[in-house]
Amino acid sequence: MLSLKNIPIDFNTVAEKLDNFSNAKGLTMVIETKNGFVELKFYSSMPPGLLRLYNTKKGLTIDGSTGKNPDLNKELMEFINEIIAVKKNDEQRITFKNVSKDDFEGIIKRISLFSDGERSYQIEDKAVKNTLEEKHLIIKDIKSKEELNLKYYTNGTLYIYGFMWDLGEEIANIAHKVLGRQRQTHVDYLNEIIHACNEKYITFNVEECIECDNPCNGNCSSFLQDIHYGEKKRYSCEKVINYYLPKYAYRYAFEIEQLLKLHIDQIRNFDSLNILSIGCGPCTELLGITNLSSMIKKPISYNGIDLNEKWEKVHSIIKEKLSKRVTLKYHYKDIFDFLSSITPMKKVIQSNILIFQYVISDIIKYKSTEEVHSFMQSLFGEVVEYLPKNAIIIFNDINHKQKARDTFDFFASLLPENKYKIHKYYFKGKTEEEYFIYGEEIKETEVPYWIPDYIENKYNPWCICKSAALVIGKVE
Ligand SMILES: C[S@@+](CC[C@H](N)C(=O)[O-])C[C@H]1O[C@@H](n2cnc3c(N)ncnc32)[C@H](O)[C@@H]1O
Repeated sequence: MLSLKNIPIDFNTVAEKLDNFSNAKGLTMVIETKNGFVELKFYSSMPPGLLRLYNTKKGLTIDGSTGKNPDLNKELMEFINEIIAVKKNDEQRITFKNVSKDDFEGIIKRISLFSDGERSYQIEDKAVKNTLEEKHLIIKDIKSKEELNLKYYTNGTLYIYGFMWDLGEEIANIAHKVLGRQRQTHVDYLNEIIHACNEKYITFNVEECIECDNPCNGNCSSFLQDIHYGEKKRYSCEKVINYYLPKYAYRYAFEIEQLLKLHIDQIRNFDSLNILSIGCGPCTELLGITNLSSMIKKPISYNGIDLNEKWEKVHSIIKEKLSKRVTLKYHYKDIFDFLSSITPMKKVIQSNILIFQYVISDIIKYKSTEEVHSFMQSLFGEVVEYLPKNAIIIFNDINHKQKARDTFDFFASLLPENKYKIHKYYFKGKTEEEYFIYGEEIKETEVPYWIPDYIENKYNPWCICKSAALVIGKVE
């Protein structure tokens, strides 16, 4: 497939994504405006890749059929195809059925209450067009000016439509939570840790924010979003770091809890849960596992490795809140250096649960495919082979082929069949597209944890699980 016609995406979005992609691949992208189209060239020591982009009324047409490097063009076109696959899903209308009037009002109230200090929403009433429509509202992000439509019908159907990226997800997230509120489980330590992060977040000195050289300019939420959408940025400032858990922890913790529950019989046989988390960041996986372990009454020891020492402050909070339940150790190291420094003498690894949670998608931004593959080979040869019998290895990450799943599959391909059992999972979306199917589906996607109102209104924490995962059981 060397051309794509009338795709519903704007030029700047494609150009930005291609630029990130080229940086990750060590290419230099150059944009040149021609008569009636824009040419993107991708330079390296090889012949350049070439794409021609035509802006039409129906969308963007991309032609990758010319130039001197058809292989690179093909790779670029495949990458664009991936972006569209994800985007198409975002563009679909989100429907909620059987929404009571009270719930509808609850959703609107939540939307109006939300403010994280950067973003808040304006709600505008539009005239309804027929008797079936009860309310038509336009929700606008006051800062970014992005907007969407929200229609509520007399039969209880709620439609959210007419949005491109972030806003739709944020509003749908609010709706999911209001509608799912009856299934709320209290996970006290989780809320205590998040409370402590929130305290640090809101008392962060504005002066420090001005002086800080992190390129977020105080916009923590969009900075984090950029990282998670694939930009090469690190979690490099304290304010950003304190924003992470309130926004992401409920979802990420529940994802890992669910994945491990699927292997609970194996886990029940462990005397204790000895976790090694690579790229642990603020340990969202530990927060989910602690909930699981309190159900099965197993002690936990946890070793987290992360290259970013900034997480230390969050680690102190976690230590303070969880030290009675978990033996915790943190190592601030790049996993690439760590793997290359392992010597045969040290090869007795006690961990029976090895986790990579949302790390592969981060690693991939900084390393070439060859480097990632060679890392995976060392990981297998130097670590996984030395894990105890029955150990579980989990990769949980965004449901994206190039950003995570291809690497999962590469790792799985290294494992001898008789020694390892491979399971693939994905959390089922509301609108199912083939692109997102990865092994077995997990139907329970809504996070059931109770979230305090002040956290809800400030962060709108993510509450729908969407990841893809590779879970490997070590047979012997
Ligand atoms: C998206 S965060 C995920 C954190 C955590 N596992 C979670 O699920 O919330 C990715 C983390 O991986 C860490 N990381 C990325 N590359 C790494 C590397 N080469 N070695 C160690 N940590 C790394 C980053 O510093 C970051 O904390």
